Amino acid sequence: MRIYLDNAATTWPKPESVYQAVDRAQREWGVAAGRGASQEALSIQRMLLELRQLIAQLINGHSPAGVTFHAHGTAALNTAIHGLIRQGQHVICTAAEHNSVLRPLETLAADNMIEWTILPSDQTGRVDPIALRKAWRTNTSLFVCNHASNVTGVVQDVAALGAIVRERNGLFLLDAAQTLGHLPIDVAAMQCDLLAGPGHKGLLGPLGTGVLYLSERAMPVVRSTIQGGTGSKSESLQQPWELPDRLEPGNLNVPGLAGLHAGVDWIMQHTIPQLQQHQQALNSAWQELWQQAELAEHLRSWGADSNGVGVVSLLSNEYDSHELATILDQLPVRVQGRAGLHCAPLMHQALGTAQQGGTFRLSWGPLTQRQDLELAIAQLASLFR
Ligand SMILES: Cc1ncc(COP(=O)(O)O)c(C=O)c1O
Repeated sequence: MRIYLDNAATTWPKPESVYQAVDRAQREWGVAAGRGASQEALSIQRMLLELRQLIAQLINGHSPAGVTFHAHGTAALNTAIHGLIRQGQHVICTAAEHNSVLRPLETLAADNMIEWTILPSDQTGRVDPIALRKAWRTNTSLFVCNHASNVTGVVQDVAALGAIVRERNGLFLLDAAQTLGHLPIDVAAMQCDLLAGPGHKGLLGPLGTGVLYLSERAMPVVRSTIQGGTGSKSESLQQPWELPDRLEPGNLNVPGLAGLHAGVDWIMQHTIPQLQQHQQALNSAWQELWQQAELAEHLRSWGADSNGVGVVSLLSNEYDSHELATILDQLPVRVQGRAGLHCAPLMHQALGTAQQGGTFRLSWGPLTQRQDLELAIAQLASLFR
């Protein structure tokens, strides 16, 4: 038996409709998007437009024209960061960031393109908006921040952060990798100018999908970072400026995006408030089961907070986190989580878990049930008897 609790890496299982949509796109459509006028090609164009509309609706985006598709959350973040930043600018991010933000910024800094400041986070991953106000410089152009930590599940006060960025006339890029599909997101209310996220986590699409949303403020300033065929304006050697073509050269992952469409449909049917309620119910179930099993004497734990996303990080005195992951995956009831730094090295410095090589993380998704957590806690408890 397999208890999959690594939904912060990618959600699994997906709703049945997602598998069917991928299969249909491969088996029945077959053709590429924007590269022909066959009936199948037109069905794909309609599906893509609908998907842009659904995603814009989900986050209260101003228009489907601001929704672009990418290979993963990392590609969406890199498209935004490299597309926005100009020589001599200053960028601010937080210690809670994933390497898909930290590494592009470090690369730009190493090339003497930018200077950057990393705001500290507290021991749960939360960043104080006052620190952002203090770090802002006259040449600061961009603030990048994740909505929820992939290590502790803590949710940032993005509305307060967004208000500061807008007051200073900068741009705010939100990494919604751990919240898209899980929590209500209103980019207008959060004053968020760009939002990046994977399609394969909370949105329930297949691996190989990601989304970048650009507001009206961001649309005129993000340049293309890769150039190539778009199936449009082919007589010109210049990358078309129109969106989405500006940021979507090369053939799109049509089967993946068809699956993402089915995933987003599923999310819309189940509604974000209901999915959030399900996640909060699982967080309280985890806390209750944790207390009952008296695991606190053996494991330190972060996350599964009542207002956080469904992520918990554990640290044992007796087992290294990789050892814990391997042992749990080999029990008759296999519990699957993820050990290590979770691509968020500075977050582990803030938690004090970097020296130990990180934590063992368990994370739940829309299709996880209370019984999965009961079985996971029972297996964990069996290691300390
Ligand atoms: C907070 C955060 N940002 C960005 C990413 C990168 O997303 P992807 O794996 O789709 O590249 C992840 C993935 O784990 C993440 O947790």
